[in-house]
Amino acid sequence: MNLIAAVSNNWGIGLRGELLFSIPEDMRHFKTLTQNKVVVMGHSTFKSLPNSKALKNRVNIVLSHNINLQIDNAMVYNSVEQLLSAVSGFSSEDIFIIGGQAVYEQLINYCEFAYITKVNTRQDADRYFPKIEEMSNWKIQCRSSEKSYNDLTYTFVTYINDNVLKPANSFKSDQS
Ligand SMILES: NC(=O)c1ccc[n+]([C@@H]2O[C@H](COP(=O)([O-])OP(=O)(O)OC[C@H]3O[C@@H](n4cnc5c(N)ncnc54)[C@H](OP(=O)(O)O)[C@@H]3O)[C@@H](O)[C@H]2O)c1
Repeated sequence: MNLIAAVSNNWGIGLRGELLFSIPEDMRHFKTLTQNKVVVMGHSTFKSLPNSKALKNRVNIVLSHNINLQIDNAMVYNSVEQLLSAVSGFSSEDIFIIGGQAVYEQLINYCEFAYITKVNTRQDADRYFPKIEEMSNWKIQCRSSEKSYNDLTYTFVTYINDNVLKPANSFKSDQS
C-alpha cells in the first residue's frame, strides 16, 4: 500500500477540516498517481472533498465507525481490520491511503511507499502526518528538483519502508 500527502515543514496537513495548500501541480500529481486506483480515506477527509463527493475514476473507500453510513460511489468500512480484509483482493501497489491524520497513523506501518509533497512553509495546522523521518524503517528513495508556485517552493519526495507490516490477509500480489 502507499501513502500520499502534502505536508508543511512541520508535517502539518490540515487546519479546521481543510487542506493547507492548493498547488495545481500537486493536485495533478495526486490525480496521476491515484487514477484508476483504490483510495482510502477517513470520514473527515471524505467530508472535505469538493461537494463531499467520491473521487472520480477511483475505487473510493471511507473509514467510519458509523455502521449505518452509506456514501454514493464509495465503500464504507468500520474498522482497520475490516478495511484490510476488504482490500486484500487488490494489488497492494494499487492502494493509496489519502488521509487524514487518523488514517495515516493507523495504516502507515502497512505501507511500502509514501509519496510526500514537502511544501517549504511553516503554517498553522491542527492535523499532522506521522514523523516519517524519525522512523528508522523509512528511507528517502528519490526526490524531485525544487519547484515553485506563487511564493511557495515544494519538492516531491518518495519514501520507502523496508519493514512493511503484513496484514493477516495478504494482498493479491502476495498470493501468487
Ligand atoms: N495534506 C494532505 O495531504 C491531506 C490529506 C488528507 C486530509 N488532510 C486533512 O486532514 C484533516 C482530516 O484528518 P483527521 O485526522 O481529522 O480525519 P480523517 O483521518 O480524515 O478521518 C477521521 C475519521 O475517520 C473515521 N475513522 C478513523 N479511523 C477509523 C477506524 N479505525 N475505524 C472506523 N472509522 C475510523 C472516523 O469517522 P467517524 O467519525 O465517521 O467514525 C474518524 O472520525 C483535514 O484537515 C484534511 O483537510 C490533508
